[in-house]
Amino acid sequence: MSKFRRAIVVGASSGIGYELVRQLAEAGTQVVALARREAPLQELAASHPGLVHAMVHDVLDTDSIPAKFIQACDLLGGLDLIIYSSGVLHRVERDEYDFQKDQEMLRVNVEGGVAWLNQAAMRFAGQGSGCIVGIGSVAGDRGRANAPIYNASKACFHTYLESLRNRLSQHNVTVTTIKPGPVDTPMTAGMSFSKALTAEDAARRILRAAGRNAEVYLVPLHAVAFRVLRAIPSPIFRRLKL
Ligand SMILES: NC(=O)c1ccc[n+]([C@@H]2O[C@H](COP(=O)([O-])OP(=O)(O)OC[C@H]3O[C@@H](n4cnc5c(N)ncnc54)[C@H](OP(=O)(O)O)[C@@H]3O)[C@@H](O)[C@H]2O)c1
Repeated sequence: MSKFRRAIVVGASSGIGYELVRQLAEAGTQVVALARREAPLQELAASHPGLVHAMVHDVLDTDSIPAKFIQACDLLGGLDLIIYSSGVLHRVERDEYDFQKDQEMLRVNVEGGVAWLNQAAMRFAGQGSGCIVGIGSVAGDRGRANAPIYNASKACFHTYLESLRNRLSQHNVTVTTIKPGPVDTPMTAGMSFSKALTAEDAARRILRAAGRNAEVYLVPLHAVAFRVLRAIPSPIFRRLKL
């Protein structure tokens, strides 16, 4: 039995988002699942008739988001949970400064999240309840040389979510910042990690954390490791070439 009756998942067509929808529906939650690729969304809807509603959507089309949000809430007859999982990680070389790639990461990882979660913030503040979950990343904890804008987009998203938490807790609304480490999904295909979570395990941990008014590392050891990493002075961090 799910903690949530009605949910929106943005970025539901693959990886973590797909699993979140599947597990929510298995637990009896009604879900509106959004992304650009229709086929996987229809697959989720067909496997959970009456519970999963597919909605094709490109988060870059921010003008359409207020109407899409209302449409989703009307379809569900209300809203208890929203999860923003859409994300892009472009691989960039150490000497590459490609504005097109950077812009897409900023727009999907930050702008789309702000456009969707602002809608939820207003609705939840008005109704005096609700849970917001944003999928960030441990990558946002430091400015590493390998992925400047992916790192920066996640750091920006984390700070936005912290501000939402500080605004909304007085309205009985929770905001959970999820910081996954490596997860085995299409985003990380071809990368090798010694200990990546499966998308199933990541989604299970995210749903367990949803409703906590906090920043949550999916792997508890990361909470300690990244606290240490954040405390390393910049000149030393630079020499570590992490
Ligand atoms: N995998 C990891 O190791 C890892 C680690 C830390 C954090 N994360 C974060 O976890 C989240 C989910 O990532 P994932 O690993 O599950 O990756 P994924 O399998 O590549 O899924 C990314 C999702 O984002 C959606 N998306 C991308 N561009 C979009 C757009 N313009 N409009 C709407 N949706 C869009 C994709 O849907 P469409 O392409 O169909 O639109 C897809 O559903 C991301 O925020 C990612 O940064 C992942």
